[in-house]
Amino acid sequence: MGTSSMTIHIFDNEELVDEAAAGLIRGLLTRNPRAVLGLATGSTPVGIYRRLIRDHEAGLISFRHATTFNLDEYVGLPADHPASYHSFMREQLFDRVDLPPDASHLPNGAAADLEEECRRYEALLEAKGPIDLQILGIGNNGHIAFNEPAPELASGVHVVELAEATRQANARFFDRPEDVPKRAVTMGVGNILKARTILLVAKGRSKAEAVRRALKGPVTTACPASLLQLHPRVVVMLDREAGEGL
Ligand code: PGA
Repeated sequence: MGTSSMTIHIFDNEELVDEAAAGLIRGLLTRNPRAVLGLATGSTPVGIYRRLIRDHEAGLISFRHATTFNLDEYVGLPADHPASYHSFMREQLFDRVDLPPDASHLPNGAAADLEEECRRYEALLEAKGPIDLQILGIGNNGHIAFNEPAPELASGVHVVELAEATRQANARFFDRPEDVPKRAVTMGVGNILKARTILLVAKGRSKAEAVRRALKGPVTTACPASLLQLHPRVVVMLDREAGEGL
């Protein structure tokens, strides 16, 4: 490993991953009800969010004073589009906890001026950040948020062309594969690395190679997740299959 600051936990199954990840977030919100949470979409965090809803319903945690920032949003999808990440977050978390509507932030992928939207989101992160805990999944190709493998990576919020592999992996959320947007607004690696703590979560054998490259490979923009090796505080939670390459 590049640094000694990564803590890697491998659990027997994904339910245990979800419990541990939710436990970390519960602990943070208990210590600091005003925490700034960095949230992710995709299949990986769904079980974590389900447990946070359960904990909220049990009276164990409140989001009343929390602030959230999501990593990314598709370009061209209005917030109310069923496949938008706005919709995903409402369904999977926001509508089911007591987070005030004006405390959750996502990039607006339907903005008329996308460059201006990137500047707006960057400024908002700067004003309300730093993010205390950033939840991150990892793409099969080693991407984090929508930072795809490339010779160079942008540091700040930017518009990105999605990798074909990513569009295929995300086609399951759309009626037809060609409906998957070709671009997204995403936090850059610099935004992600500013989080105080990063919680990287991966499940399943399909992620094992990306996880191995991210944690054990060289630091390279060919595997954007490998840049996490430069961060002082990364907690990695894997199920057995995702950890197979370690
Ligand atoms: P997934 O996506 O959670 O749906 O596997 C993760 C990612 O692409 O970052």
